[in-house]
Amino acid sequence: MLPGAVPSPNIWRHTDTYETENRAADPDGRLWQAMRDALTEGGRGGFAGRTVLDLGCGTGFHLPRLADEVGPGGSVVGVEPHPSLVSLARRRVRGLPRVDVREGVAQEVPLPDASVDVVHVRWAYFFGRGCEPGLVELDRVLRPGGTALVVDNDGARSTWGSWFRRGYPHLDPPEETERFWTTRGWTRVGVDMGWRFASRADLEAVVRIELRPEVADAVLAGHDGLEVDYAVNLWVKHQPR
Ligand SMILES: C[S@@+](CC[C@H](N)C(=O)[O-])C[C@H]1O[C@@H](n2cnc3c(N)ncnc32)[C@H](O)[C@@H]1O
Repeated sequence: MLPGAVPSPNIWRHTDTYETENRAADPDGRLWQAMRDALTEGGRGGFAGRTVLDLGCGTGFHLPRLADEVGPGGSVVGVEPHPSLVSLARRRVRGLPRVDVREGVAQEVPLPDASVDVVHVRWAYFFGRGCEPGLVELDRVLRPGGTALVVDNDGARSTWGSWFRRGYPHLDPPEETERFWTTRGWTRVGVDMGWRFASRADLEAVVRIELRPEVADAVLAGHDGLEVDYAVNLWVKHQPR
């Protein structure tokens, strides 16, 4: 494992269930739409034709979709510190032109200065208090006019937000998280992303890789159905042109 990697027990230890979680997320494409909107605001160019870095790409779940979004004129690079996830990501994108996966960490991104237009970071435990070296790297690798997009849980609202606060009481409260990003020039876009599962067994398995057993038992006992109201924050920062 590369130094600087932050333990991510959900995807490291339960890789298949994490895939189920990714498949259940954003069933109506609201998060993708919010990212497209962020990339086009102020007359900016959107995804098409851009070079995108997916930082902390895990098994590369989002790489094929990002490749579709950038289209034939663009390219995608995934960076991930966990060697077996790097292998899975490479296998996933084998045969896709203009998609590459590299081993690396946010604190030392294996890319040249000013070489990407968009940085996409999802469920990045390595961002938050103490991650300043990674944020400096984002500024380094982004081209002038480029955009960084960081997606993470919104503990302030939604059913998942309340479960998350219950499961991780030691994490910064939502207002601290907001202060962390906004004082560094980031803008928050709230997105009602949602989770929609194919079966109750899938929903329960995913909740159990995200929350401690006693918290998972309690929240599942109080929640019926296959969907969970799940709000996320999309943090956006544009580089000066
Ligand atoms: C919760 S997973 C999300 C994976 C992927 N973004 C997705 O949405 O499927 C967090 C990922 O960040 C990676 N990671 C941990 N520390 C990191 C660091 N310092 N720099 C970059 N990635 C890191 C983990 O190995 C893991 O694959």
